[in-house]
Amino acid sequence: PISAVLFDLDGVLTDTAHAHYAAWKRLADELGVPFDEATNEALKGVDRMGSLDLLLRHGGLSVDPESRDALASRKNGWYLDAIQAYGPADLFPGAREALCAVRDAGLRSALCSASRNAPALIDRLGIADLFDIVVDPASVPHGKPAPDIFLAAARQLDLSADRCLGVEDAPAGVAAIHAAGMFAIGIGDPQVLSDADRVIPSIADFRLEDYHAR
Ligand code: BG6
Ligand code: MG
Repeated sequence: PISAVLFDLDGVLTDTAHAHYAAWKRLADELGVPFDEATNEALKGVDRMGSLDLLLRHGGLSVDPESRDALASRKNGWYLDAIQAYGPADLFPGAREALCAVRDAGLRSALCSASRNAPALIDRLGIADLFDIVVDPASVPHGKPAPDIFLAAARQLDLSADRCLGVEDAPAGVAAIHAAGMFAIGIGDPQVLSDADRVIPSIADFRLEDYHAR
C-alpha cells in the first residue's frame, strides 16, 4: 500500500507548463535559437539554469556567467508577468479534488516541483494548505531527472520509496521518480511519457483507488 502521493506542480496541477514554454520561446527567438514545443519537452521539469543551458546548447551558444544570469532573470520576469493574475480558477479541473482525495484517504501529500516560484504559486492557487510538505528545490543537490527531490520528500515524510507514488507531466520528472525507486504516474501523452508506469490524460483522471490497492 502507498502512504503518500508526491505531486509535481507545473503541467500537473496547473497550466504553467505553457507559460514556461512561452517565456523560453521568447528568449530563444531573441537569441535566434530555433525552438518549438518538441524542443521544449526536454526542458520540462528541469530547473531554471539547467533549462537555460539546454536552450543555449541547442542553439550552439555559449555565454559568460553574468549574461547567463541575466538571461535567466529575463525569462523569469516574463514568466512572472504571465502568472501574476493566477488564482484558484487556474487550477486544472480535478486538481483540488485529487489533493483532497489523498487527504481524505489518510495519505500524505508532498509538492516536488523544481520551480523556485512554486511556493508563491500554490498560495495563489489556494492549495498551499493541502500539502503536508513542500520540498524546497534549492535544498537538493541535483535537479530532475536526478531523484533527489523525490527522495527528499520520502525522507521528510519518513517513508520508504515503495510507499510513495509520484505524479509528473515531464519525461525528466518520470525519470526522477523511477530513479528514486517509486511508482510513476504520467499526466499527458503516452508516447511522450512511455517510461511511466501508468499514463492518464489529465489530473481529472486521477483515481487514487487505482493505485492505493495495488
Ligand atoms: C519546472 C518546470 O516545474 O520548474 C520548468 O517544468 C521550469 O519548465 C522549472 O523551468 C523551474 O522553474 P522556475 O520557476 O524556478 O524558473
Ligand atoms: Mg511539470
